[in-house]
Amino acid sequence: MRALLAVDALSRRYGSLVALDRIDLRIGEGERHALIGPNGAGKTTLLDLVAGAARPDGGRIWVAGRDVTRLGPARRARLGVGRIHQRPAAWPSLSTLDNIAVAGARRCGGYRRTLPAARQLLSAHGLPDVTAAQLSHGQRRQLEIAMALAGRPRLLLLDEPAAGLSAVEFSQLSAVLRDLPRTVTVLLVEHRLDLVYALADRVTVLRDGQHVATGTPDEIRASSTVRTAYAEAVI
Ligand SMILES: Nc1ncnc2c1ncn2[C@@H]1O[C@H](COP(=O)(O)OP(=O)(O)O)[C@@H](O)[C@H]1O
Ligand SMILES: [Mg+2]
Repeated sequence: MRALLAVDALSRRYGSLVALDRIDLRIGEGERHALIGPNGAGKTTLLDLVAGAARPDGGRIWVAGRDVTRLGPARRARLGVGRIHQRPAAWPSLSTLDNIAVAGARRCGGYRRTLPAARQLLSAHGLPDVTAAQLSHGQRRQLEIAMALAGRPRLLLLDEPAAGLSAVEFSQLSAVLRDLPRTVTVLLVEHRLDLVYALADRVTVLRDGQHVATGTPDEIRASSTVRTAYAEAVI
């Protein structure tokens, strides 16, 4: 399988803290890849580096065969890197439809041309057309995924999308992620291991900026190295 995302010896320090230490990662086109590990493992840092929101201290990043290491976040977004942050990011005073259309406009030829696709995304996600401020936390998460999809990403980076969701919202989110087309490659950071194991083709475990393991959900579940990494971690 061709690597849609390739990361080689990627490192990032914050002062004397090594947040990521020479991480290698290959994610195939269409793959669902989950990134797990205790708090402070470097998961968000890795997404920041892939999205271009932070610069690495060492290593390289390729998206669809192109070296993007030196490109800024806007260039990477145009190359198809879409992102959902750990914190909600919709514009509260805009309608759900406008949030989606505006988010997709830059990559899809303007607001008006994005509107039909935005309407489809709105109904596919079961969202009402109200202002984003009126949505529940779970609906806002759904909105953000719809916003990211409006930009037709090739690579979707999701940082803890299930955080703070109710049981109903959680199962809605699971269905949305399960039904994403395979034209979208997914890198998912998530603490909810039931979601990870249900969705992921492969899982990578980080701890304290170090690569612990990469494998199928079954391999990761059975790995004593992974269990030790979690058990010894200060959470
Ligand atoms: N902007 C920052 N400044 C200083 N330290 C940071 C910054 N961002 C992250 N860190 C540190 O880097 C490590 C990895 O953080 P992060 O990538 O957020 O971990 P995770 O998402 O796995 O919980 C942590 O020790 C965190 O405190
Ligand atoms: Mg994080």
